[in-house]
Amino acid sequence: MKKHVLIGVCGGIAAYKACDLVSQLSKKDYEIKVLMTKHAAEFVSPLTFESLSHNKCYDDLFNKNIEDPIEHITLAKWADIMVLVPATGNVIAKVVHGIADDFVTTTFLACHTKKMICPAMNVHMYENQVTQDNLSRAKKLGYTIVDAEVGHLACNDTGKGKLASVDTIVKAIDAQFEKEEILKGKNVLITAGPTQEALDPVRFISNHSSGKQGYAIAKAAREMGANVTIVAGPTNLNDLDGVNTIHIKSARDMFEAVKENLDDANYIIMAAAVADYRPEVVADQKIKKNDDCLEIKMVKNPDILKYAGEHKKDNQVICGFAMETENLEENAHKKLVSKNCDMLIANNLFTSGAGFKTDTNVVTLFKNEERIQLPKMSKEELGVKILETLFEIESER
Ligand SMILES: Cc1cc2nc3c(=O)[nH]c(=O)nc-3n(C[C@H](O)[C@H](O)[C@H](O)COP(=O)(O)O)c2cc1C
Repeated sequence: MKKHVLIGVCGGIAAYKACDLVSQLSKKDYEIKVLMTKHAAEFVSPLTFESLSHNKCYDDLFNKNIEDPIEHITLAKWADIMVLVPATGNVIAKVVHGIADDFVTTTFLACHTKKMICPAMNVHMYENQVTQDNLSRAKKLGYTIVDAEVGHLACNDTGKGKLASVDTIVKAIDAQFEKEEILKGKNVLITAGPTQEALDPVRFISNHSSGKQGYAIAKAAREMGANVTIVAGPTNLNDLDGVNTIHIKSARDMFEAVKENLDDANYIIMAAAVADYRPEVVADQKIKKNDDCLEIKMVKNPDILKYAGEHKKDNQVICGFAMETENLEENAHKKLVSKNCDMLIANNLFTSGAGFKTDTNVVTLFKNEERIQLPKMSKEELGVKILETLFEIESER
């Protein structure tokens, strides 16, 4: 069946390139419908898009002559992906803040499917911190960014802001659906973020995990067509559209949530930084400052990865994570075997670009006797790599 692509064209000089994009996509296995902002129609006529897409072009939210009075919702439901191209600084700012004041932005807000943003603007507009913050927010919301390129711009400036080539955008759209095939029908269970172990009603022991890696895997799994459940400790990240998110606080809460979802899972990926120990006693009242020294007795938390390994079924593959500050290799290999994992991702905390709060990661992947040192890559790219490798492990059985 043809995939449905909604193209939201905005009022930038690169709007004419959207014509070529629509033309190229129409020749492939896609059905295209085009929406335009009012300003986009200053650059290219809706008639051009109607001719190229063989469908109506939408630019007026309150057009009295259309048959369906809530066309933006109908279109949002119809779409398998919505792509903003060229995405102006203005429309990017609007969509990441939920502003819906025209056909394009209202439909984008209503869409609960894959979303892609292809920015194009003057270098100073692009490099403006506001635009950069908006693009970071877009990434956090799970939208795919096909980043602008460096080049000579229409305004005669040279720098970053040029729309990615039509070929690059076509490939990025294709990739969204290629990924989809391999995990269709699979249930993926992921843990992410830190846990918090209460000391008293106002204090807890925790760690620096941001949850970014686990969420990036969840996003990649969703895009590869899986049914995804994420059990997440407290993070600053937004829930991902289309991902079942279970929020927990302590390691024991996480253990319960994992146990409940374990049986149905095909891929189990434990990326959370779970506290090994918790205070034995949680004080009912805030602990008072009395003596010079406060001793807290800690007791062991359940080992969630070990439990999953011990209960592993034939149709399950398990991936663990190890964050080591010394003897990375030896410890990671030991963990792979002792926890009955199929794969282990080892993070070296002291490598630049790796670890807790960054958007990139540098890891070594251990599977059976194989050890693969991966280059520095975004946490999203690593998410895809992890899922593809688990898929290979499953296929080789
Ligand atoms: C000739 C011309 C070219 C423009 N090119 C761009 C552009 O490439 N990117 C951009 O973000 N804004 C560009 N703008 C500014 C936008 O058109 C303006 O911000 C407008 O409000 C965007 O409307 P829209 O985002 O609703 O489509 C351009 C304006 C003019 C007059």
